[in-house]
Amino acid sequence: AFNLRNRNFLKLLDFTPREIQHMIDLSIELKKAKYGGYEQQRLKGKNIVLLFEKDSTRTRCAFEVACLDQGAHVTYLGPSGSQMGHKESVKDTARVLGRFYDGIEFRGFSQAAVEELGEYSGVPVWNGLTDQWHPTQILADFMTMIEHGQGRQLNEMSFAYLGDARNNMGNSLLVGAAKMGMDIRLVAPKAFWPEESLVEECSLIAEKTGAKITLTESVEDGVKGVDFLYTDVWVSMGESKDAWDERVALMTPYQINMDCVRKTGNPNVKFMHCLPAFHNDETKIGKDVAEKYGMNGLEVTEDVFESDHSIVFDEAENRMHTIKAVMVATLGD
Ligand code: CP
Ligand code: NVA
Repeated sequence: AFNLRNRNFLKLLDFTPREIQHMIDLSIELKKAKYGGYEQQRLKGKNIVLLFEKDSTRTRCAFEVACLDQGAHVTYLGPSGSQMGHKESVKDTARVLGRFYDGIEFRGFSQAAVEELGEYSGVPVWNGLTDQWHPTQILADFMTMIEHGQGRQLNEMSFAYLGDARNNMGNSLLVGAAKMGMDIRLVAPKAFWPEESLVEECSLIAEKTGAKITLTESVEDGVKGVDFLYTDVWVSMGESKDAWDERVALMTPYQINMDCVRKTGNPNVKFMHCLPAFHNDETKIGKDVAEKYGMNGLEVTEDVFESDHSIVFDEAENRMHTIKAVMVATLGD
């Protein structure tokens, strides 16, 4: 066997397919154990710090609940709660927190920052999202696909990701799919395809794993026959509000609505989204944008989001089980 003890979890590119599968399998075991009331605490007495430069609901709460379930103590440092960034460098912060804590979660802007924490803290560091990657999300997504896959393995599944395929979700899903031998279609305006160097790197991985990578601007071609439809917000955290003008114009053809669902030709196609989602005008941004552009629902419509196709809350729940598995695998007794 192999072990992931003391490893950082910074991006999926750092892990082999077997290691990724192992973390998903462990997540499934931990979920069963929690539901069955026989969960063993493997993080007893550990101190964990959560460092957030950006907001979060799922990731923060997943880490906190996972720590509590596993017997660890947790400190949350929010966007304005610490010295890091304005008064103290990442490198110094890493060396301080590494003296107090047994593990560090980081969510922020730059991937370089989380890599630096990983290099200098001396304890496992977990990436809770950067502008470039969102690796814990992919573990939850793939676990959810397995749960809804009727016994199939990941390399027997296909999915289409529509919208902003150049953001942290597009990048991470591409790497994850390449590693796990899946059939992935990135369906987006060309300007929002992932960087060419990443596509090349993933194509090399795909040659070994049997993954099939398709990049297309055509919704018809891209979604045909897929098992899952996936989308994310058109403007990500940290991007300028001005981006909405351009994005709404470019991305609207890639909205996941009932017409798009029908185009898959798969009556059982499942809808996924990392969340938060703009599926109606019940949020501040959703309302502003809806008023400005006359849209009710942006990257996904309300009818799809609330339909039987939608598995977004299973997916959200699995953030907790997968994050727990990452901590247990890298730090557990
Ligand atoms: N999907 C996700 O990372 O959600 P939060 O921003 O709420 O953590
Ligand atoms: N692309 C989104 C993902 C949120 C979980 C963002 O970075 O805001």
